[in-house]
Amino acid sequence: MKDKAANPFVVAIDGPAGAGKSTVAAHLASRFSLLNLETGAMYRALALKALRTGTDPDDAPAMEVLTRSTRIELEPADTGNRVLLDGDDVTQDLRTPEVTAAASRVSVHGPVREWMVAAQRALADHATTGVVMEGRDIGTVVFPDAQVKLFLDASPEARGERRFEQGGTAASREAVVQDMQERDRRDRSREQSPLVAAADAVLVDTTNLTLSEVLARTTAIVAARIAHPAA
Ligand code: DC
Repeated sequence: MKDKAANPFVVAIDGPAGAGKSTVAAHLASRFSLLNLETGAMYRALALKALRTGTDPDDAPAMEVLTRSTRIELEPADTGNRVLLDGDDVTQDLRTPEVTAAASRVSVHGPVREWMVAAQRALADHATTGVVMEGRDIGTVVFPDAQVKLFLDASPEARGERRFEQGGTAASREAVVQDMQERDRRDRSREQSPLVAAADAVLVDTTNLTLSEVLARTTAIVAARIAHPAA
């Protein structure tokens, strides 16, 4: 679906870890035949490259240099995205605690973010349908004119609990919650594009909602916008 100005139809989904963004994004993409693009996976892929090449994720100039020799592609897959780093499928390598921590660190650097934003706009531009793009700065920076902006949030306790229940780590419940809160603090307090709801985003607090309630509410928001596009 493209609008008159040939801008892609964009559903921007932002919010902290564990708020339910990925589940909502996958559902909306399938329900409205939109391309699902997970921008967090791109930061994770760059972090993986930093770890593999011995580049310090905290070293802004070194990270900027690294982006110049890096190619990250997202391809649609059954669940989420297949992620190609310099042509290699690294999808299975992106969810380790080491990559998660490094992704949070590489994402604070301005030049890294500019490079990512350009790549993310290009991905949406190439989409023949509209896109659901999920991240931290989609409604504020990447697509400030997105037709739909959702900001999903939940209490830190609920988000920590969900992350722990998702498993995939041998870490204790306390360690999972603590790591998540540390990442949150960094995402919300960084100078460049901190995690914040766009002024015109619809806030959905998922703390006390069931999954089907969250999906029903967000689906209704997108359906309403498709029925009544902004003037
Ligand atoms: O959503 P995620 O957990 O896969 O994201 C990994 C990291 O990347 C997270 O610490 C925040 C960062 N990120 C970001 O700064 N901007 C985005 N648009 C997406 C993710």
